Amino acid sequence: MDSFTDDAEFITCDSPVNIALIKYWGKRNEKLILPLNSSISVTLSQDELRARTTVAVSRNFKEDKMWLNGREQSMKNARLQSVISNIKRLCRKRKSDNDQVNDKLQWKLHICSENNFPTAAGLASSAAGYACLVYALSKLYGVDGDLSKIARMGSGSACRSIYGGFVIWNKGEAEGGEDSKAEQIVSETHWPDLRVLILVVSDQTKHTGSTVGMQASVETSQLLQQRLQGVPKQLEKIKCAIQNKDFHSFAEITMRDSNQLHAVCMDTYPPVSYLTDISHHIIQLVHAINQDNNSNMVAYSFDAGPNAFLFLQEKDVPTVIDILHYFYPSSDPNFIRGLQVPAKRDVHVSAGNQVDYTVFSDLKVIPRALKFIIHTQPGPGPTVKDSDCGLLTKDGFPLNLNNANGKI
Ligand code: PMV
Repeated sequence: MDSFTDDAEFITCDSPVNIALIKYWGKRNEKLILPLNSSISVTLSQDELRARTTVAVSRNFKEDKMWLNGREQSMKNARLQSVISNIKRLCRKRKSDNDQVNDKLQWKLHICSENNFPTAAGLASSAAGYACLVYALSKLYGVDGDLSKIARMGSGSACRSIYGGFVIWNKGEAEGGEDSKAEQIVSETHWPDLRVLILVVSDQTKHTGSTVGMQASVETSQLLQQRLQGVPKQLEKIKCAIQNKDFHSFAEITMRDSNQLHAVCMDTYPPVSYLTDISHHIIQLVHAINQDNNSNMVAYSFDAGPNAFLFLQEKDVPTVIDILHYFYPSSDPNFIRGLQVPAKRDVHVSAGNQVDYTVFSDLKVIPRALKFIIHTQPGPGPTVKDSDCGLLTKDGFPLNLNNANGKI
């Protein structure tokens, strides 16, 4: 019987978001996505932030199709095509004598991907999306080996989402990019009390994409050239801080690198600015907290947007959350999302439950500055999910559609 579903094969995978501590900014090869510097990131838990992708092949599919968050996407995307063709090439290389696999390689592909976090938050990470697609395709076609090099072709930072915990993307030296790949430094269990607070800033502006922004920096920023000379030392220093779970040093290196990235952006001509007044207020607040504490209690890092990624230790989460509530009051009952905030063991709280913020007296209180806060922690790399998590019907079309574009 040549029924539709008998010839279809489905795989569903989840993949994490990662946040760089030492940032990647600037390519030496735009097509192969080869960076000018190596970078280090931490992969975040998929309980709070993840991409999920179902891929399917069938002899009955008429054309390759893709849906992202319920909307059909064009397949005419150079990076998407590069990822698919590279996975297929790897598969052909390894399984050229297997007819069943060869059949599958000819069949059309349906791809459906969704994030578990609101797209409006500006966290829509191409890193999680491309890592997920590459991982899912590798399972579909039975390919193993280094997937980070293929994920890199989708979006540079995606190569780091192939691994959990702390990850380095070695820039490599080879012209063809053979050695430009990610590698785990330590797993997500290495630093169990490290926590991350993502401060989603209320902001309507459209920001310059990272591809355009970094290209402009490469062309015009002298500071970028200077930064590149200093990065290797910073990489070594942060690796050491991670190995030793030395939060104070970890925090300083992380904040300095974020500041340097945004200084490079301002040195780009015309300047590119990702940080808003709220982002700058968060930076000042973090330094005020650390000064009051006589040691770093919290660190910030900003990517190509105004949202802050704060790093801290579990024991300090209640104190920092209280301070954030005070300076960025919100009436949203769901303001803090994700992991539960641990019980307070705080010296700041005086009798009557009033917190003493006089040390931060020159900072304004800004109601509704943040949309919400996500409380999360380091997490593992991509995983295969059960078929009941699948995003496609048995006929290969999305279960959830956001518009009328995707016909069922
Ligand atoms: O991989 P892309 O093109 O999304 O660029 C990522 C750039 C930063 O997020 C700013 C830094 C990084 O290393 O992730």
